Amino acid sequence: MSEKEIVLSGIRATGNLHLGNYYGALSKFVKMQNDYDCLFFIADLHALTTSPDPDALHENVKNILAEYLAAGIDPEKATIFVQSDVPEISEMYLLLNMHVGIGELMRTASFKDKARKQLGLTDNGDDIEKQIIGTDSNKRVNAGLLTYPTLMAVDILIQKAHKVPVGKDQEQHLELTRRFARRFNSFYGVDLFPEPENFNFGGHAVKVPGLDGSGKMGKSEGNCIYLVDEEKVLRKKVMRAVTDEGPKELNQPLSQPVENLLTLMELTSTPEIVQSYRDAYADCSIRYGDLKKQLAEDILKVTTPIRERYQDIRSDDAYISRVVRQGAERARERAARTLAEVRQAMGIRKF
Ligand code: ADP
Ligand code: TRP
Repeated sequence: MSEKEIVLSGIRATGNLHLGNYYGALSKFVKMQNDYDCLFFIADLHALTTSPDPDALHENVKNILAEYLAAGIDPEKATIFVQSDVPEISEMYLLLNMHVGIGELMRTASFKDKARKQLGLTDNGDDIEKQIIGTDSNKRVNAGLLTYPTLMAVDILIQKAHKVPVGKDQEQHLELTRRFARRFNSFYGVDLFPEPENFNFGGHAVKVPGLDGSGKMGKSEGNCIYLVDEEKVLRKKVMRAVTDEGPKELNQPLSQPVENLLTLMELTSTPEIVQSYRDAYADCSIRYGDLKKQLAEDILKVTTPIRERYQDIRSDDAYISRVVRQGAERARERAARTLAEVRQAMGIRKF
């Protein structure tokens, strides 16, 4: 058994990866692979909770696999696998659900958000519970969405992971995972699961903002810069980003849209460049056209090599299959061991 701490993380197979995924998750995966025992996977079962499109699913899985590899995850250092290739996860998901309350699942912020979307509600009213148990069968919230955190906890616990590099929006799910781990350990009087933590190289969890002046960058928000965006497309998106009318007074506080652009710049540019634009805002000399040009340039420095490698890898089906077959084998080995322990603890015995 390895001495290194175990790291596990995954991304849902719902489309190409954007800068939020990159800075919140993928770039951390790449850095961690040298120092930890890492497993990175594509959460295709989780994708089914919101995007049950059989034609798109397999393509999305391949896209993200190619993006993992293009961003620098090395299949000789880290285990790369697809969630549904490890059936032990589905079995343990059923078992762990016996110890999870529907109340705690219904209170999860991501559930409320996504349930609202599935019901077509726009406001943030409190009557979401009533709407969920309503009788109109055309508008239902699927049970997979409710039990999303159980499945995520199983992804993590079945590999006995210590560290789970994710963006800020996933911290509530990690909190639930720790709670389920403690609950299982104490209910059965075992010490099977470590309590996993987020990992940010000593910094805070990042929230990458969108280009539309508000909120986070997200696939469903339509405000993304994708790692594989062509240069022209990417420049256009940045040049169209929302700003404000420009500072009117010396040292006035940053408006949200400009703060967002500077947050993106902090991730992609040097501290000196960021500071020069902060100073220019403070003394009212800032020119948003220049800021955007610089930002586009710096983002392209990060994304261009990834996009170029992506194109080669994405067209090499044989390589992609080899990587995931090897990954599934390694991931299943550990998962099967944990599942046997879980069944044993719960009193499920073989005859
Ligand atoms: P999306 O929100 O676009 O659907 P996912 O939910 O599949 O993306 O997220 C995959 C990973 O990327 C998670 O670790 C999540 O925390 C991270 N992530 C997604 N969007 C952002 C963002 N805007 N800022 C930081 N991390 C993010
Ligand atoms: N819920 C995560 C997201 O939306 C994806 C995910 C599923 C995950 N299982 C996981 C992340 C296990 C880390 C560990 O991004």
